[in-house]
Amino acid sequence: MPSKVKDAGLAKQGKLRIEWAESRMPVLMKLRREHSESKPLSGMRIGGCLHITTETAVLVRTLKAAGAQTSWSGCNPLSTQDDVAAALAEEDIDIFGWRGLSKQEYYWCIERVIDMKPNLTLDDGADLVFTLHETHAEQTKEVVGGTEETTTGVHRLRALAGEGKLRYPIIGVNDAETKWDFDNVYGTGQSSIDGIIRATNVLIAGKNLVVGGFGHCGRGIALRAKGLGANVIVTEVEPVKALKAAMEGFRVMPMIEAAKIGDIFITATGCKDVITSKHFNVMKDGAILSNTGHFNVEVSVSDLEKLAKAKREIRANNTEYTVADGRRLYLLAEGRLVNLAAAEGHPSEVMDMSFANQFLSLIHLAKEGKSMKPGVYEVPKELDRKVARIKLQTMGMNLDELTPEQTRYVQGYGEGT
Ligand SMILES: NC(=O)c1ccc[n+]([C@@H]2O[C@H](COP(=O)([O-])OP(=O)(O)OC[C@H]3O[C@@H](n4cnc5c(N)ncnc54)[C@H](O)[C@@H]3O)[C@@H](O)[C@H]2O)c1
Repeated sequence: MPSKVKDAGLAKQGKLRIEWAESRMPVLMKLRREHSESKPLSGMRIGGCLHITTETAVLVRTLKAAGAQTSWSGCNPLSTQDDVAAALAEEDIDIFGWRGLSKQEYYWCIERVIDMKPNLTLDDGADLVFTLHETHAEQTKEVVGGTEETTTGVHRLRALAGEGKLRYPIIGVNDAETKWDFDNVYGTGQSSIDGIIRATNVLIAGKNLVVGGFGHCGRGIALRAKGLGANVIVTEVEPVKALKAAMEGFRVMPMIEAAKIGDIFITATGCKDVITSKHFNVMKDGAILSNTGHFNVEVSVSDLEKLAKAKREIRANNTEYTVADGRRLYLLAEGRLVNLAAAEGHPSEVMDMSFANQFLSLIHLAKEGKSMKPGVYEVPKELDRKVARIKLQTMGMNLDELTPEQTRYVQGYGEGT
């Protein structure tokens, strides 16, 4: 099946942007060089469902250099960069996706990936794995393993495994330290603010900016917004997370209170219905609403649609909803991940680490997957540390090493006061 992309004519621009990303991803490029002769992924058919961005293109090229055959779809209807998809299609990489997919088209693209009968899967949000399990269960016998990129996907897979229904081993790449503590914090932090700015061009300084959820992504966003001069307000459901936010200097309150004073809202919870009609009803005229959690269920778009008397696209990725009393609320990127839909997603430097984890985890599964029981696994610790070590080297930084004496000290109990 040939690729299906929006406009093959965009390939030249896409190639240049991929080349730029490659120049910013030294860890993955080093791994590509190291594995392009031994080809540890020979014989592997990798089905991918992951945002089609420049960084993903660097990963796909690396998988191919290591011997894999790949077939790819995007994992969100609004995140595909059409020039990148065109560039990959021109390189004979099977790719199915374009920006602005309907739900039906979205699953059509995933089905095309399943057509290649993958024996490894790489997912972001678990829609590929769920489609395989729900409608092609017999095909899962051929799959030796998979990886999952994001928090929401790992949650869904753990729930499936908890019911005994997961049919092959999956490594939760999201939970690697060199992924979760960097990509979600610094990547989502910077790129979500970037998305809000591109869609609005508002000044962040002096604004009341409400962050829903103070986990990895929420903390990153709050810190970056604070740096730009926002008065950051955090909403949470976990007391320890709320306390951490308070001690970082942020005000913590329930969303119903924050709704009355917020100028800009961004959700990052992985939960649903964080902002609904009861919140819209008390918001200020001009409030800006956005989400960076995986699915478009955190800001209730259906509630907003019901309340609205009029709706128009006022800027790219910015829809104005006018409610009955005349207040105007602005929803960015249709409530989908604002950083990928209204900006370019995470900077390449941080995806370098996430995708190095993906690459090493897939090689691990190609070797070991057959002997692993179905379940959700962690990235092996030595791979996580390897990624950190190479990243530091590429940043020109070195570490101290414990002396034998220090090792004995930290592992022993003999020396006290
Ligand atoms: N936009 C992106 O590029 C991007 C990148 C990484 C992760 N994600 C997604 O972002 C979401 C969050 O990921 P994370 O790694 O920060 O997860 P996390 O588990 O570290 O943090 C989520 C936080 O939200 C809080 N929370 C849950 N329900 C809430 C509610 N109703 N109201 C307020 N707070 C609530 C939790 O207590 C937790 O502290 C997930 O959907 C993940 O898949 C998006």
